[in-house]
Amino acid sequence: MSYRVPRGTFDILPEEVKIWHWVEKQAQEICRRYQYQEIRTPMFEHTELFVRGVGDTTDIVEKEMYTFNDRGNRSLTLRPEGTAGVVRAFVEHKMYAGPLPTKLYYFGPMFRYERPQAGRYRQFHQFGIETFGSQDPAIDAEVIALGMQFLESLGLKGVKVEINTVATPEIRARYFDKLIEYFTPFKEELAKDAQNRLYRNPMRILDSKDPRTKEIAAGAPSILDFLDEECAGYFEKVKEYLDLLEIPYVVNDRLVRGLDYYTHTAFEFVADLSGAQASTVGGGGRYNGLVQEIGGPEMPGVGFGLGIDRIILALKEQKVDIPVQDQLDCYVVTIGDKAKLYSVKLLKTLREAGFVCERDYLDRKVKGQMKAADREKARFVAILGEEELEQGNINMKCLETGEQEQISLDAIVDYLSNKIQP
Ligand code: HAM
Repeated sequence: MSYRVPRGTFDILPEEVKIWHWVEKQAQEICRRYQYQEIRTPMFEHTELFVRGVGDTTDIVEKEMYTFNDRGNRSLTLRPEGTAGVVRAFVEHKMYAGPLPTKLYYFGPMFRYERPQAGRYRQFHQFGIETFGSQDPAIDAEVIALGMQFLESLGLKGVKVEINTVATPEIRARYFDKLIEYFTPFKEELAKDAQNRLYRNPMRILDSKDPRTKEIAAGAPSILDFLDEECAGYFEKVKEYLDLLEIPYVVNDRLVRGLDYYTHTAFEFVADLSGAQASTVGGGGRYNGLVQEIGGPEMPGVGFGLGIDRIILALKEQKVDIPVQDQLDCYVVTIGDKAKLYSVKLLKTLREAGFVCERDYLDRKVKGQMKAADREKARFVAILGEEELEQGNINMKCLETGEQEQISLDAIVDYLSNKIQP
């Protein structure tokens, strides 16, 4: 019997984890600059939270959730996204009473039962941010700017923001009626899933991938023609701020997010890639009714979720040079039993002083130890023989220049400190 990872999941092996660490570090640094604080919520929540929060006509709730009953017969669901859980925590801990706006970020795995393909998995990872308590369109623009700055800091090129407004539930209801009126005569020609959505969530027909449905949808009315003064003014302001911040965006009035909680601003980050499937590296928007929906006070919110798996795929496709820290400062090569014994202590000293070091644990001959040092890209090899040990000395060899010198064993920490810039 051989075991494999479940479909739609993957292992992240040590070499790859280095990339993930670097991406996570960039996210943390950008969040620090924008004054966002990390929050960690459970990986599963009560199913009802997602049904209410994400919306029961969404693909996520209809067919993508990992839902199970625990032994106490409670219905729980592995989180398919991060916003609902963060909003639940925000309400549960009465964070709305604290200083506003509250700016939170998170990083972690999400679960959706989707058809796996390149850039689409059943366990994937999001870096997300959520801001609560501000109606200022400048904060919508700031959320987008943070996402852009993060993607740019990774070296991802050609990222564009697509932006739209999904207005208010009242305006959307009027727009829904018009869409139903428009699509009904074409009903038989629409793709199956579009037909199913016609009366429940007709806006989702607008982002159908089916060619004929797409053709029909191209002639559908635009939400931008239904905005009232307030919605239109809000959208204008967000765009003004984006212009000010020099963020490359395009208005896409067909942009529909796959979650129900949005009001006003909706956006996506799209990378310039050859494989179309994974090009949407993130999305987000404003959700002014969600906190109340989940039992809190009236409290506006705005945020995004970025797909880290897709971003890492995109970095690879664009052949971005990823700075990974895997240098070994010093490999200790020993000759003879006494030196070997001593090296155990020497490594402890060096590691306590902050150096990355290694020695042989496979009883290799000197040649084999030197090879290992080379393979592990050591900057220095410290060679310790019985004779040197008796004299209190050690030979230091720089692998880059080939230079070798003998120093006092007591001076090794100072020696490496001088040679290696921290
Ligand atoms: P979302 O658009 O459903 O939004 O997901 C955000 C991003 O997560 C997507 O753009 C994509 O990069 C990535 N993603 C989604 N599903 C998968 C998958 N199956 N495999 C790989 N990557 C995937 C949300 O989740 C919202 N919570 C975003 C948000 C936060 N809105 C406001 N605040």
